[in-house]
Amino acid sequence: MGASAIDISGKNTAAEYPSVEELKQRLIIPEVGFTPAPEVPQPNVFPIEWRVETPKLAEIYERAKREGFNPSAIPWDTLDPSAYTADERIAMMYWWALLSNFDSSGPAVFGRAMIHAFETHQEDPVRKCFFSITRDETNHEECCQRAIQRLVPNGPQGFAPKTELERAALNNIDWLYHNGGRYWTGFNNAVGKYPLAVLFTSFMLGEVASSTLFHGMARATRHPVFEQVFRSIGRDESRHLQICITLLEKEWPGLSDEYRAFVTKQLRAGFVFLSMVLWEPPPMFWQLPDYFLDNHRVLLDIARRAGLGILRVDEQAENWRIAIAKVRKLLERWRIEFPAIPELDIEGVDVGDISDADIIPVF
Ligand SMILES: [Fe+2]
Ligand SMILES: [Fe+2]
Repeated sequence: MGASAIDISGKNTAAEYPSVEELKQRLIIPEVGFTPAPEVPQPNVFPIEWRVETPKLAEIYERAKREGFNPSAIPWDTLDPSAYTADERIAMMYWWALLSNFDSSGPAVFGRAMIHAFETHQEDPVRKCFFSITRDETNHEECCQRAIQRLVPNGPQGFAPKTELERAALNNIDWLYHNGGRYWTGFNNAVGKYPLAVLFTSFMLGEVASSTLFHGMARATRHPVFEQVFRSIGRDESRHLQICITLLEKEWPGLSDEYRAFVTKQLRAGFVFLSMVLWEPPPMFWQLPDYFLDNHRVLLDIARRAGLGILRVDEQAENWRIAIAKVRKLLERWRIEFPAIPELDIEGVDVGDISDADIIPVF
């Protein structure tokens, strides 16, 4: 093709490209009018449109693009496994496996929430924010993966335990993932059933708690790699929290009383579920053998001594209280009652026992 085929604007003007006027002659305009396309049965991701109702969410999405971090850019090779004893390595790996019981379900949980948002035709920034959370959670999962592989190759479950401590850790991880599996089943059933406001109130408790947790751990850890990881994840979680709050300010006013009561129960479920990594789990929902908690405490104490950055149990409880106070304040504005959390001496509505189907919260 010669230079003359393309004019200065970059358009194709050679003879094989007829003019627009010539092309328009070929249009077929039926005398009886166009046949309307059938309506797309819903829920469906089609028809596609890019409606913006909440510009603030669009802003947060832009920020997510700039702020996101790359887990491979963290200097993992400076995390020297030989600087720790085998006991310390397994104990620290155990904590990362514990975290991954929450953070590693994040990509699939938000991936599904994103598809749901497309199918129910949420405004464009909502869908994009869900996408950004999915992206971030995949990074958090990668951090769990990398930390675990560095400390115990083929962890969390594929290594051959040689000591009592290693056997205890592996068995506890098996039990954690058993419960993680129950959570996934419950979440799958909930995602299509409840309005976004309900789903996101559950998410919000997780985001408030996790942003506080990671900022605290970034300060407490003795290793620069862990500090960088915790700081990066903490920044993401703060952004997730802003997404939640912005979305809820939009959705809460339309919430029916029936759902208001349900949200109260969800907050209690969030406390029960997330306490496993944020503090200590109350004796409901969690199916665990009777020795689990003792072994869990031993492993976490060893990881604490090794400088991973796990807060003391009393600091964790205080962390929870602060997070809960923040959420409670937000909810008051929308006449949503807060559940009682007797474990932390927090008064509120008694919502009874928590079962598999109640657990939606995620980091
Ligand atoms: Fe996360
Ligand atoms: Fe998150």
